[in-house]
Amino acid sequence: MRTLVLADPLDFDSWREAARRLRLAGVEPAQARFAVGRSRGDLFDEAAALPEVEGAFNAPRAFMETAAQLIQHRSEDRFDLMYRLLWRLKDQPDLLAVLSDRDVAEAADRVKAVRRAAHKMKAFVRFRQAEDEAGDHWVAWFEPAHRVLQATAPFFARRFSAMRWTILTPDGSAHWHGETLTFGPAGEQAQAPAEDAVEDFWRTYYASTFNPARLRLQAMRSEMPKRYWKNLPEAALIPELTAAASVRTEAMVTQSAPKPNERFQRVRAPSVDRAPTDDLVPGDLDELARGVQGCRRCPLWRDATQGVCGEGPKRAALMVVGEQPGDQEDLVGRPFTGPAGRLLDAAFEEAGLRRRDLYLTNAVKHFKHEPRGKRRLHRTPSPSEVQACRWWLDHERRLVKPRLILALGATASLAVLGRKPAVQAERGRVITADDGARVFLTVHPAYLLRLPDPAARDSERAKFLADLRVASAEF
Ligand code: URA
Repeated sequence: MRTLVLADPLDFDSWREAARRLRLAGVEPAQARFAVGRSRGDLFDEAAALPEVEGAFNAPRAFMETAAQLIQHRSEDRFDLMYRLLWRLKDQPDLLAVLSDRDVAEAADRVKAVRRAAHKMKAFVRFRQAEDEAGDHWVAWFEPAHRVLQATAPFFARRFSAMRWTILTPDGSAHWHGETLTFGPAGEQAQAPAEDAVEDFWRTYYASTFNPARLRLQAMRSEMPKRYWKNLPEAALIPELTAAASVRTEAMVTQSAPKPNERFQRVRAPSVDRAPTDDLVPGDLDELARGVQGCRRCPLWRDATQGVCGEGPKRAALMVVGEQPGDQEDLVGRPFTGPAGRLLDAAFEEAGLRRRDLYLTNAVKHFKHEPRGKRRLHRTPSPSEVQACRWWLDHERRLVKPRLILALGATASLAVLGRKPAVQAERGRVITADDGARVFLTVHPAYLLRLPDPAARDSERAKFLADLRVASAEF
């Protein structure tokens, strides 16, 4: 057995030179071991003491790329695995494409772990402010799962190019002085400042972006493992925020699987992939709200945080119907709490209407959207989704018994009238629906928000206000 000692755990060049000589000398992987550390007498063969062998061979590029990542893995036998792969490539040049091969799969797993560690480092390094003779100096302490400091430091140099910073880790340190990146010896946590004013910023930021309804502890722990928490100022808030979230989530969970209520009566036959509660007629608005949380009449429930029901007095004279909850409403669980809701509130006030006297709801109870980066972009519900959700709106109407229904925009008008409306032609006056209901159409407030031209926006808003004033005199 030959044991090769390398001075540095990231010393790829020395490993490559030793591996080249071993392979050319015909030393099989089972006869070679690589170790890192100082030579201990004759237990070790120094790389330089290997037989000089003439010749060369080319390792495939894919192997070199894999090896450059593998070397960062903390496992002691990573150099041995690299040599085994290199050796086997001689007879099997396409070995790396054989994903079922044990060595190849093992290498792929370790490369994945290294990439994950680099990703975590980019996400969880937190610099703290310090000062030296040259001024501000930002220092971070971080314990990466693998030896990714050198490979990841250029990312920080690009991202924080205007700062002078140091990242200390148990493996080594990286320093950026504004122009050059240098590496030095391992650091200790005590060398980094413990806390500074910036912590408050992180905490405030995190608390304000934290969304209890989206909390998935399992996912959160795997994305942000506890080992990183101690260096994250905002992590101090996690137990508090998650405790509060579980109380709120508990309420949502209770709602999302409502028990069939004895006061419900069976009506309709199931149509789509329905929940058991879908064909139970709600006896009051609270039962209706619980039923919506278990609704499976169309697929929109799958991507929404929760169903958003109407709110307002149980016997409001005016029922206002919008399209569907937006991003904010989906998170908060109440209708018209986002930008369109704010515009609507202001318009109500100007038109002499008080929101607390009105019953506000939507044609569709779940937020339809598509992801775009970190945002969720609104998508208009389809006629079949409107039709599926009409069941809930009809029951809201039956329970509230409004004297007038104000439908905002085409989707609401479709849901209320049961036909395709001509909003511009039919707006601004009371019309009678086929079922006898008194209905008043106008545009949706989001339409006003979307108008790019300020003059058009002002004139459309004035028309909207005029509609609301007319409606306020009709119930
Ligand atoms: N738009 C709607 O139609 N309804 C809401 O609740 C919010 C925005």
